[in-house]
Amino acid sequence: MLNREDNELLTRIGPGMPMGGMLREYWVPACRSAKLERDGAPARIRLFGENFVAFRATDGRVGFFNEGCPHRCASLALARNEGNGLRCIFHGWKFDVSGKCVETPTEPEDRRGTFADRVPVKHYAVHEAGALVWVYLGKNQANPPRFPDYEFTKLPEDQIAPRRGVIHCNWLQGLEALLDSAHVTFLHASGLGGRVGQDFYKQEAAYMLETGAPTFEFIQQPYGFREGALRDQPDGKTYARIREVAFPFASFIPAPPGGYSLVCFSIPIDDEWTAQWYVGFNVHGKIDPRPRAIMGRDSGDPDFFNSDMGDVSNMWHQDRKAMADGHWTGITGRGNAYEDFIVQESMGPIVDRSQEFLGTCDVVIVRSRKILLDAIHQYQKDGTLSFCGPEVNFNRIRAISYAYPKGGDWKKIDPFNPPVQQAA
Ligand code: FES
Ligand SMILES: [Fe+2]
Repeated sequence: MLNREDNELLTRIGPGMPMGGMLREYWVPACRSAKLERDGAPARIRLFGENFVAFRATDGRVGFFNEGCPHRCASLALARNEGNGLRCIFHGWKFDVSGKCVETPTEPEDRRGTFADRVPVKHYAVHEAGALVWVYLGKNQANPPRFPDYEFTKLPEDQIAPRRGVIHCNWLQGLEALLDSAHVTFLHASGLGGRVGQDFYKQEAAYMLETGAPTFEFIQQPYGFREGALRDQPDGKTYARIREVAFPFASFIPAPPGGYSLVCFSIPIDDEWTAQWYVGFNVHGKIDPRPRAIMGRDSGDPDFFNSDMGDVSNMWHQDRKAMADGHWTGITGRGNAYEDFIVQESMGPIVDRSQEFLGTCDVVIVRSRKILLDAIHQYQKDGTLSFCGPEVNFNRIRAISYAYPKGGDWKKIDPFNPPVQQAA
């Protein structure tokens, strides 16, 4: 549990809030690169309780502004995107990618130039990598922090398949869903059962169903921690799910050697809404971008892949008949992410963590909250940002699942060069 004060500290991320201030200092995924076409429709993007607009100019560069026009606040998502800039449809003022106001046609001709120079346009640093547009919304726009060049951000776009889910709850609930390894055997039991016998995940699913109470071990890392969830198997092996948590937003989901990888980010839209990015990638070659190949069926919209999830008013379409017939959750026909999202939403928009009663299986959750609280206290004290110091090698963060003969040591497994796995 958390006391109410700490719960508020960690969950409130709007303008002026301490956690909001700290989280804005990290690069965050804003939208898929493919969503922005040259001279195409600008995208409306909400992050940290504020509204923004992103667009791709004629020359291919991306601009990122506050949504409201600096003149009288009309939405720049409505703007014309032409001639390397956005032109507001209200009075025709135009802004280039760098945030400079370049035309103010409603002003007297002789003073337009000097007037335009004085128009303040709030714009932000962007970086495109890993088939995503990332934005830095922090204070130091002239000198943004180092970009977290995770392994997938170096891959060509045909090896990456990003998807964005949207959930009606606070970012920390979204993150905690990603951190909680203990639920897999229960919440996703039916999904896992369906996978036994399928492709290279079959052994994975069988291993996970074998025990619902894995033991957890950790290696502290400057970006967060590496976690081994260990399940002893009747076949004499230990099945280890070696996961990487890179605070404040990312969880790298273990995949068997040779399989597709998945990294998830929990990004605040505002206090009560969260973007859950599920970025599938294949370090070995091209990726099959169909959702089924990566994380189960979804709505088909990569910018809102759970748009057909329902909400509390229809109990998220839970199918009681399917439950009576043996399905664990009654959340059928869609991938695991729907089950994760629905239990998080069911807690309410901002769960009161002072009401919890935690058990041994919550060790990761407790650990993570402490790490985040330490980080915010440090940031409040002297402005030091955790998890992204020069010692962090973002590029060498990789999760893996692996079965080895009992008695082996998961800490010795190098995810980039695992020992050859014996056939099951
Ligand atoms: S409100 Fe945008 S130009 Fe006037
Ligand atoms: Fe899950």
